[in-house]
Amino acid sequence: MMQEQSEQIAKHKIIASNFKTNHTRKSTKEFVENVNKFLQDENITNEVYIFPTATALNEFDTVSNLSLGAQNAYCVKNGSFTGEIGTEQLDEFGIKTILIGHSERRHVLGESQKEIALKYNYYKSHGYQIIYCIGEPLEVKEAGLTETLGYIWEQFDGIDLDYDNLILAYEPVWAIGTGVVAKVEDIATIHRKIKKKIDKPLLYGGSVKPSNLEEILNIENVDGTLIGTSSWDVEQFKDMISITSKK
Ligand code: 13P
Repeated sequence: MMQEQSEQIAKHKIIASNFKTNHTRKSTKEFVENVNKFLQDENITNEVYIFPTATALNEFDTVSNLSLGAQNAYCVKNGSFTGEIGTEQLDEFGIKTILIGHSERRHVLGESQKEIALKYNYYKSHGYQIIYCIGEPLEVKEAGLTETLGYIWEQFDGIDLDYDNLILAYEPVWAIGTGVVAKVEDIATIHRKIKKKIDKPLLYGGSVKPSNLEEILNIENVDGTLIGTSSWDVEQFKDMISITSKK
């Protein structure tokens, strides 16, 4: 069953845009409506995800293969957690998809693996589609493959890998927002190692752009991409959806 699932997904690559701290409520609405129309007009059936800022979440009327998700939320329905949102706020907009473990949350905002696992388990218990991110910093990569894999496996501590609604995203920290893309053979090696252990859709992220997308999608065990910077321009994102739809 799991094998069937991943074969099916391999035929229909996934594409996701992580807005990070970009776009306003107004420009997000225009972006989502533009992408939605494009998917309809071009009859594109690939799974497409958009993760806007929390302030731009809304109840968007989209085709079934376009999902809006939260970049982050706390593991709570509501309560006294200043600055956080919970499932009550996500439910208002029918949001059922969340990014967990993104490198900026780990390394810039200081989320520990324990906190990440708590979030994961909370959103799992509520049936959310989780895109779970993993990836090593430069000094770990430079220490070698064994260290890199050891670091990545630790990012699975407390994470139930049998969860049905799980998509993984390998995003090497040193390739995020830097313009430095991992080499094809590096992506292939890490993806093969992860897939061998975990049979879930596996996206690649880190400086993906129109000029390297096709090459990345051609790598074995790459089931799609999670894109930051180059996805924030809607025309460029649509170009990348087009490329993805032909794979
Ligand atoms: P960039 O595409 O800007 O490198 O960001 C990747 C990323 O972090 C997506 O979540």
